[in-house]
Amino acid sequence: MKKALFALVILAFIVACGNSGTDKTADSSTSSSTAPATAATDGPDGEKVYKQYCVTCHGVYGDMAASGAFDLTTSKLTEEERIAIVTNGREGTLMVGFKNILDEPKIKAVAEYVVKLRK
Ligand code: HEC
Repeated sequence: MKKALFALVILAFIVACGNSGTDKTADSSTSSSTAPATAATDGPDGEKVYKQYCVTCHGVYGDMAASGAFDLTTSKLTEEERIAIVTNGREGTLMVGFKNILDEPKIKAVAEYVVKLRK
Protein backbone atom coordinates (compact mmCIF):
# COMPACT_ATOMS: atom_id res chain seq x y z
CA MET A 1 0.00 0.00 0.00
CA LYS A 2 2.73 2.42 0.98
CA LYS A 3 4.65 1.47 -2.16
CA ALA A 4 1.68 2.32 -4.35
CA LEU A 5 1.36 5.76 -2.76
CA PHE A 6 5.05 6.37 -3.30
CA ALA A 7 4.73 5.46 -6.95
CA LEU A 8 1.78 7.83 -7.28
CA VAL A 9 3.78 10.69 -5.78
CA ILE A 10 6.59 10.04 -8.22
CA LEU A 11 4.17 9.89 -11.10
CA ALA A 12 2.66 13.20 -10.03
CA PHE A 13 6.14 14.64 -9.90
CA ILE A 14 6.98 13.51 -13.42
CA VAL A 15 3.74 14.92 -14.77
CA ALA A 16 4.37 18.21 -13.00
CA CYS A 17 7.89 18.41 -14.43
CA GLY A 18 6.64 17.57 -17.86
CA ASN A 19 4.14 20.41 -17.65
CA SER A 20 6.66 22.98 -16.53
CA GLY A 21 8.89 21.81 -19.35
CA THR A 22 6.31 22.64 -21.99
CA ASP A 23 5.63 25.98 -20.29
CA LYS A 24 9.30 26.84 -20.54
CA THR A 25 9.54 26.19 -24.25
CA ALA A 26 6.50 28.39 -24.80
CA ASP A 27 8.16 31.16 -22.77
CA SER A 28 11.47 31.01 -24.58
CA SER A 29 9.84 31.17 -27.99
CA THR A 30 8.05 34.39 -27.07
CA SER A 31 11.13 35.99 -25.48
CA SER A 32 13.43 35.03 -28.37
CA SER A 33 11.19 36.92 -30.78
CA THR A 34 11.94 40.15 -28.88
CA ALA A 35 15.69 39.48 -28.55
CA PRO A 36 16.88 40.93 -31.92
CA ALA A 37 15.42 44.34 -31.04
CA THR A 38 17.49 44.64 -27.86
CA ALA A 39 20.63 43.22 -29.53
CA ALA A 40 20.93 46.27 -31.79
CA THR A 41 23.29 48.40 -29.68
CA ASP A 42 26.15 50.77 -30.45
CA GLY A 43 29.63 49.56 -31.37
CA PRO A 44 32.54 49.35 -28.96
CA ASP A 45 33.46 52.41 -26.87
CA GLY A 46 36.72 53.85 -28.24
CA GLU A 47 37.40 55.80 -25.06
CA LYS A 48 37.17 52.65 -22.98
CA VAL A 49 39.56 50.81 -25.30
CA TYR A 50 41.99 53.74 -25.23
CA LYS A 51 41.99 53.96 -21.44
CA GLN A 52 42.57 50.23 -21.17
CA TYR A 53 45.31 49.75 -23.77
CA CYS A 54 46.87 53.05 -24.77
CA VAL A 55 47.19 55.33 -21.71
CA THR A 56 50.28 53.50 -20.41
CA CYS A 57 52.31 55.15 -23.18
CA HIS A 58 50.17 57.90 -24.68
CA GLY A 59 48.55 59.13 -21.45
CA VAL A 60 44.94 60.06 -20.75
CA TYR A 61 45.25 63.20 -22.90
CA GLY A 62 47.40 61.63 -25.60
CA ASP A 63 50.41 63.87 -24.91
CA MET A 64 52.25 61.92 -22.23
CA ALA A 65 54.71 60.48 -24.77
CA ALA A 66 56.08 57.81 -22.42
CA SER A 67 58.47 55.24 -23.88
CA GLY A 68 58.96 57.54 -26.87
CA ALA A 69 55.26 57.37 -27.71
CA PHE A 70 53.99 59.83 -30.26
CA ASP A 71 52.18 62.91 -28.92
CA LEU A 72 48.76 62.06 -30.31
CA THR A 73 47.52 65.64 -29.91
CA THR A 74 49.83 66.63 -32.74
CA SER A 75 49.29 63.56 -34.90
CA LYS A 76 48.17 64.31 -38.44
CA LEU A 77 47.45 60.80 -39.62
CA THR A 78 44.33 59.95 -41.58
CA GLU A 79 41.85 57.43 -40.24
CA GLU A 80 43.22 54.67 -42.51
CA GLU A 81 46.78 55.37 -41.34
CA ARG A 82 45.74 55.32 -37.70
CA ILE A 83 43.87 52.06 -38.13
CA ALA A 84 46.92 50.60 -39.89
CA ILE A 85 49.28 51.65 -37.08
CA VAL A 86 47.02 50.44 -34.30
CA THR A 87 46.48 47.16 -36.16
CA ASN A 88 50.08 46.40 -37.20
CA GLY A 89 52.15 48.74 -35.05
CA ARG A 90 55.19 50.69 -36.29
CA GLU A 91 58.28 48.59 -36.79
CA GLY A 92 61.30 49.49 -34.70
CA THR A 93 59.26 51.37 -32.09
CA LEU A 94 57.37 50.42 -28.96
CA MET A 95 54.10 51.00 -30.77
CA VAL A 96 52.99 47.41 -31.14
CA GLY A 97 50.19 46.10 -33.31
CA PHE A 98 46.95 45.33 -31.55
CA LYS A 99 45.51 42.96 -34.12
CA ASN A 100 45.85 39.98 -31.76
CA ILE A 101 44.40 41.88 -28.80
CA LEU A 102 41.57 43.96 -30.25
CA ASP A 103 39.05 43.04 -32.93
CA GLU A 104 38.44 45.28 -35.94
CA PRO A 105 35.47 47.26 -34.55
CA LYS A 106 37.46 48.06 -31.41
CA ILE A 107 40.50 49.20 -33.40
CA LYS A 108 38.27 51.40 -35.52
CA ALA A 109 36.58 52.84 -32.42
CA VAL A 110 39.88 53.66 -30.72
CA ALA A 111 41.31 55.13 -33.94
CA GLU A 112 38.29 57.44 -34.03
CA TYR A 113 38.65 58.33 -30.36
CA VAL A 114 42.32 59.30 -30.77
CA VAL A 115 41.30 62.18 -33.06
CA LYS A 116 39.33 63.73 -30.19
CA LEU A 117 42.62 64.16 -28.32
CA ARG A 118 43.95 66.58 -30.95
CA LYS A 119 44.19 70.22 -29.97
C1 HEC B 1 54.13 50.43 -25.30
C2 HEC B 1 53.75 51.82 -25.49
C3 HEC B 1 52.57 52.11 -26.43
C4 HEC B 1 51.28 51.68 -26.31
C5 HEC B 1 50.67 50.79 -25.25
C6 HEC B 1 50.55 52.30 -27.41
N1 HEC B 1 51.39 53.06 -28.18
FE1 HEC B 1 50.88 54.16 -29.79
N2 HEC B 1 52.81 54.69 -30.06
C7 HEC B 1 53.87 54.32 -29.24
C8 HEC B 1 55.11 54.83 -29.79
C9 HEC B 1 56.48 54.63 -29.20
C10 HEC B 1 54.74 55.53 -30.98
C11 HEC B 1 55.67 56.30 -31.88
C12 HEC B 1 56.10 55.46 -33.03
C13 HEC B 1 57.06 56.25 -33.89
O1 HEC B 1 58.04 56.76 -33.37
O2 HEC B 1 56.76 56.37 -35.06
C14 HEC B 1 53.31 55.41 -31.11
C15 HEC B 1 52.59 55.94 -32.16
C16 HEC B 1 51.22 55.88 -32.28
C17 HEC B 1 50.47 56.46 -33.37
C18 HEC B 1 51.03 57.19 -34.56
C19 HEC B 1 50.95 58.67 -34.39
C20 HEC B 1 51.57 59.39 -35.55
O3 HEC B 1 51.00 60.44 -35.93
O4 HEC B 1 52.57 58.92 -36.09
C21 HEC B 1 49.16 56.21 -33.12
C22 HEC B 1 47.96 56.63 -33.96
C23 HEC B 1 49.09 55.46 -31.89
N3 HEC B 1 50.36 55.27 -31.40
C24 HEC B 1 47.93 55.01 -31.31
C25 HEC B 1 47.88 54.13 -30.26
C26 HEC B 1 46.67 53.53 -29.76
C27 HEC B 1 45.28 53.81 -30.30
C28 HEC B 1 47.02 52.70 -28.76
C29 HEC B 1 46.11 51.78 -27.95
C30 HEC B 1 45.34 50.82 -28.70
C31 HEC B 1 48.46 52.79 -28.59
N4 HEC B 1 48.94 53.68 -29.52
C32 HEC B 1 49.18 52.13 -27.63
C33 HEC B 1 53.77 53.59 -28.07
C34 HEC B 1 52.65 52.97 -27.60
